[in-house]
Amino acid sequence: MKLLELTTDDLPLYESVYLDPRMLKHLGGVPFQRERLPQKLARDVESIRRGAAWIFKIIPDEEEERAAGSVCIWESGIHDEPMNEIGWSILPEFQRQGLATKAVRALLEQARESGRWDIIHAFPSVTNTASNAICRKMGFTLLEEVDLEWSGHKLRCNHWLIDLSQAPLGRDHRSPGR
Ligand SMILES: CC(C)(COP(=O)(O)OP(=O)(O)OC[C@H]1O[C@@H](n2cnc3c(N)ncnc32)[C@H](O)[C@@H]1OP(=O)(O)O)[C@@H](O)C(=O)NCCC(=O)NCCS
Repeated sequence: MKLLELTTDDLPLYESVYLDPRMLKHLGGVPFQRERLPQKLARDVESIRRGAAWIFKIIPDEEEERAAGSVCIWESGIHDEPMNEIGWSILPEFQRQGLATKAVRALLEQARESGRWDIIHAFPSVTNTASNAICRKMGFTLLEEVDLEWSGHKLRCNHWLIDLSQAPLGRDHRSPGR
């Protein structure tokens, strides 16, 4: 698996992530408007350029360039509090192969080494078993449940936090020695 920075050529990936209802099951279930995606992609690439976000596509070992999903850390704000947030997604045909776990671990390790990000929050929906498992495995601490709005939908979410300047990343029982 490797992580490659998002570019303005990645509209097909955004279409797969944001228009497929299966990808939005834990995010309210309603796809984005297709015509708004190019603007979103341009805004996200601009955030990378400004240094306000790290956004990577996830390329599995067996693929040359085709992305299996994305993983990102960005300057966010929840309930008017500025904070750093992490998010991830893996397309249905690549799910349940450990890819999200590997990609999140790689991004957090890169974040720690760079010193660019220290305290990072994650807000998976309480129903998102896979994403909550990933937070737990990485060594995030579960703080509370919160109600958040995502694209106009109210979501009950778990609020997780990791301080990269303090704790080591959690160990994955399926990858001893890593
Ligand atoms: C959530 C998501 C990123 C997980 O990606 P993935 O590559 O399949 O995850 P992994 O294979 O690394 O699995 C992580 C853990 O979740 C478990 N898991 C994966 N899919 C699961 C599912 N559908 N139901 C229950 N558990 C699941 C795995 O068994 C693993 O747990 P374990 O280490 O205790 O065995 C992916 O399903 C996805 O993108 N879903 C749609 C969008 C989304 O929910 N994004 C996240 C918003 S916070």
